[in-house]
Amino acid sequence: MSARPQIGIIVGSTRPVRVGRPVADEIATLIEAAGGDVVMLDLAEIRLPLLDEALPPASGVRTQPHSIAWGEQIAALDGVVFVTPDYNSGYPAALKNAIDYLKAEWSALPAVVVSYGWSGGASAAAQLSAVLRFIGLDLQGEGVQMPFQPTDFDASMRMTDPAAFAGRSVEQLRAAVEQLVEVSAQAERAAA
Ligand SMILES: Cc1cc2nc3c(=O)[nH]c(=O)nc-3n(C[C@H](O)[C@H](O)[C@H](O)COP(=O)(O)O)c2cc1C
Repeated sequence: MSARPQIGIIVGSTRPVRVGRPVADEIATLIEAAGGDVVMLDLAEIRLPLLDEALPPASGVRTQPHSIAWGEQIAALDGVVFVTPDYNSGYPAALKNAIDYLKAEWSALPAVVVSYGWSGGASAAAQLSAVLRFIGLDLQGEGVQMPFQPTDFDASMRMTDPAAFAGRSVEQLRAAVEQLVEVSAQAERAAA
């Protein structure tokens, strides 16, 4: 087993131009600095179909290659960061779909929710956190909510400097990530 905890970053936004990936990249840097190895799980790249397994995830039966691969990726993690935008006061459908594929793989997995939006993505974070608690993840702290400012966007509603936006929350992100890496490393030792 690796000495450094394996920390997944699930990027919940799948749009071709998005804030989510630069935010995830900033988090990746912080995870490495805190002593974790990063497993970037970008749903735009993984491209899971809408849930297409015949049996419910609690059965543990996975038949589709993409289901098996997704389950193996989550099972190999020691901790996970969910990065979510706020879409119409909720979190993206692609993220719910990715969660719904699995059951046991999520159990007791230390997790942090990072959200962004005009109110820091508070609604998305609240909904996502409720679902993650329901399926048994071990949520750490209050998560990090990253609020937009009007000057973050140009006239076409494109964020002008996503890296600078992510950088504004770097201290809160660092604190959350350091706690997650610490807890994930302890969980790894307990399982070893
Ligand atoms: C379908 C959709 C719905 C949105 N609804 C909200 C919302 O309810 N609250 C909010 O703060 N921002 C909302 N926005 C703006 C997003 O926060 C903003 O576009 C952000 O960049 C989306 O994250 P992404 O770029 O990673 O996809 C919405 C954006 C989209 C595409």
